[in-house]
Amino acid sequence: MEVFEYFLIVILINSLIIQICDGDKNPIFNNLITFDEYLAKYQISVHDQATYLKYKAKFLQTQKEVINFNAKPNRTYTQGINQFAHLTLAEIIKSSFGLSLLRYPILNVQPKAIIKPPCVLKPIDWTKSGAVTPVKKQGNCGNCFIFSAVAAIESATYIKTNKTYVLSEQYAMDCLDKDLKINNNACNGGQPDYIYDLVISKKGLPLNSSYPYTGNDNKVCPVKNIVSDTAIKGYITLFTDNEDTIVCNLIKGGPMSVAVFVNSTFLKYSGGIYNDVASCKPDLVLNHAILMVGYDIDPKTKLEYYIFKNSWGPTFGENGYIRMQKGINLCGITSLVQQPSFIANPIPIG
Ligand SMILES: *[C@@H]1O[C@H](CO)[C@@H](O)[C@H](O)[C@H]1NC(C)=O
Ligand SMILES: *[C@@H]1O[C@H](CO)[C@@H](O)[C@H](O)[C@H]1NC(C)=O
Ligand SMILES: *[C@@H]1O[C@H](CO)[C@@H](O)[C@H](O)[C@H]1NC(C)=O
Ligand SMILES: *[C@@H]1O[C@H](CO)[C@@H](O)[C@H](O)[C@H]1NC(C)=O
Repeated sequence: MEVFEYFLIVILINSLIIQICDGDKNPIFNNLITFDEYLAKYQISVHDQATYLKYKAKFLQTQKEVINFNAKPNRTYTQGINQFAHLTLAEIIKSSFGLSLLRYPILNVQPKAIIKPPCVLKPIDWTKSGAVTPVKKQGNCGNCFIFSAVAAIESATYIKTNKTYVLSEQYAMDCLDKDLKINNNACNGGQPDYIYDLVISKKGLPLNSSYPYTGNDNKVCPVKNIVSDTAIKGYITLFTDNEDTIVCNLIKGGPMSVAVFVNSTFLKYSGGIYNDVASCKPDLVLNHAILMVGYDIDPKTKLEYYIFKNSWGPTFGENGYIRMQKGINLCGITSLVQQPSFIANPIPIG
């Protein structure tokens, strides 16, 4: 956070210097990085002039929005430039989201929760105990639901065995059509429970290192070196609007897949506690899945927040993570919360 603020100050000072030098009338807006620098930084190749101009216009607009937003006095988070700055929301949804609730709400009937009220909320951060693998990047494929579910399985496995396994999203992707008979191109979206069901039936997943990620749906499911430690047996699905219940299950059972509705300001998030309910409305169609890994209270603002791991690489947000305000059903986070388990019919608390 402090490093970010330092850079922000440096950037603002630099932009003021540029502004004085070139006489731009807008004191806040200036090109912090040029479009060509941006393309180079994110290794974006553009093949024709029309596309170049289109991307450049969008990039400049995004940069202006980011600077104007960061100048607001009462914000609890900052926006920044990342790999999405040149794209429209529709383009980003197609390439980097990937939740479609084909099976929802016809999920397995879950056992009813029995303990209430279940627990006292307390800060938890599963990344601190080593239960969360490095941030991954789904790339140009709408398969967030696979990344979210595999990440949850990696964490559940660590919590059970104290061993870190970086598991194969590619294997889950390739086996999905064949084994679950879901007629679906995995780059076109799905829901995390597909993956839980698949891993239950396959008795685990192989390592990413033995079955590496390519992002192409090969639709063949070879016999592979399944890591038996990763053989989950079931999962819970929380249908609750009580966000304390969600935190209690996070504390008790570890990281969980969460379906969200993501809109434009989420994409520009670069740090702090995201809370734009006007943009990230809970009543809209869920389109993305992420991994809830933590909960805490900000000492300065007293805001309660969740910590989520995303699958857009470390250039998104806070090194790939986003903190989101708790208690306002931000982005519809209560809609579909799922947690893998090594018990066949786990019972949620709350
Ligand atoms: C900031 O928030 C405080 C408390 O909600 C409010 O009194 C103040 O007017 C706000 N300032 C601006 C500039 O919006
Ligand atoms: C878990 O693993 C870590 C490092 O691999 C070790 O320091 C720790 O003692 C282990 N804990 C348990 C309960 O085995
Ligand atoms: C998974 O495998 C891919 C392909 O080899 C590699 O690029 C990526 O870094 C691996 N992910 C992790 C977290 O190790
Ligand atoms: C996204 O947010 C904008 C405002 O930021 C809003 O106008 C729009 O309705 C929201 N929903 C969708 C689906 O884009």
